[in-house]
Amino acid sequence: MLEQLNEIEKTALEALRSVADGAALEAWRVAHIGRSSPLMQVFAGLGKLSKEERPAVGAAANRVKAALEAAFEEKAQAIKEAALAKSLAEETLDVTLPGRPVHVGRLHPSTQQLRRVLAILAEMGFQVYTSREVETDEFNFQLLNFPPNHPARDMQDTFFVEAGERGENPILLRTHTSPGQIHAMREFAKMNPDNPPPIRIALPGMCFRYEQITARSEIQFHQVEGLVVGENITFADLKGTLNDFARRMFGQGARTRFRASYFPFTEPSAEMDVECFVCGGKGCGVCKNSGWLEILGCGMVHPVVLQNGGYDPKRYSGYAWGMGPERQLMLRYRIDDIRYFWGNDLRFLEQF
Ligand code: DAH
Repeated sequence: MLEQLNEIEKTALEALRSVADGAALEAWRVAHIGRSSPLMQVFAGLGKLSKEERPAVGAAANRVKAALEAAFEEKAQAIKEAALAKSLAEETLDVTLPGRPVHVGRLHPSTQQLRRVLAILAEMGFQVYTSREVETDEFNFQLLNFPPNHPARDMQDTFFVEAGERGENPILLRTHTSPGQIHAMREFAKMNPDNPPPIRIALPGMCFRYEQITARSEIQFHQVEGLVVGENITFADLKGTLNDFARRMFGQGARTRFRASYFPFTEPSAEMDVECFVCGGKGCGVCKNSGWLEILGCGMVHPVVLQNGGYDPKRYSGYAWGMGPERQLMLRYRIDDIRYFWGNDLRFLEQF
């Protein structure tokens, strides 16, 4: 019996030597230490042995079993390591190869500029107030003191969502961010109707105009409107704030000038120019040889508009302005065609 066990061990170890992969190893396990292997048969037959023989055979069988199991584990480990070494040798890595370009997303240039403008205004104490893009004729025009036949109300300038008869109140896409002034004033005034609080807000957003699309005009564009209302607000506050804004936006040396203008919702009205930063005021193609670039319209809020917003014009005054981030970008980067902004051409967008 003991001899047979030695034979079993010798045969098994010999067979194991030629095992080279996982499948062969599994076959070996079944044949030599599996349930119906000769070794296990020895265990099964232990009961038939005599009392004297049994302990010695049992101990020897256990020793052989342990030895074969240990050999099995060792082989399994060796096969695993060989497989790893082989795959490492096959998968060579050339660290000198150029990398694959990673396409990084980015914000649209208009969004970037919008955020620059709002960040500057936030530093100056302005809160952001957002207002709707779909408006009524009442808010877009009437409450802003547009005379009945003002050219800006002409069908050609406005996208009507739902046409109305004259005297009704058609729904339209806002042609400017100014109707937000009325919404904001009314909302602030509601907080304390007898004593409306002061206002200092920026109103950013998309505007729409029914126009021929050309290099200079688009049917959609952003505006950032500013509105300040309080007691004793004067044109000096308007100039001081907008001059400060221009220096923060275009550089500390930026010079500005104000020209008289007309808007129905401001009185007096003005336009602000900055000295051309391309030629430094000498005159060039960008500033059309004037040395100045127009960047915004502004003025003192018209008493009728204050009244419509719920602010008593005898007690309150205010100023407002509207400017275009796309226009600022065009000036800053000398972009000569506004259609690039919504053309979705990556060659343009990836430059920002
Ligand atoms: N809403 C004007 C436009 O779209 C811009 C503007 C001018 C806004 C003067 C203002 C302002 O608030 O005071 O052309």
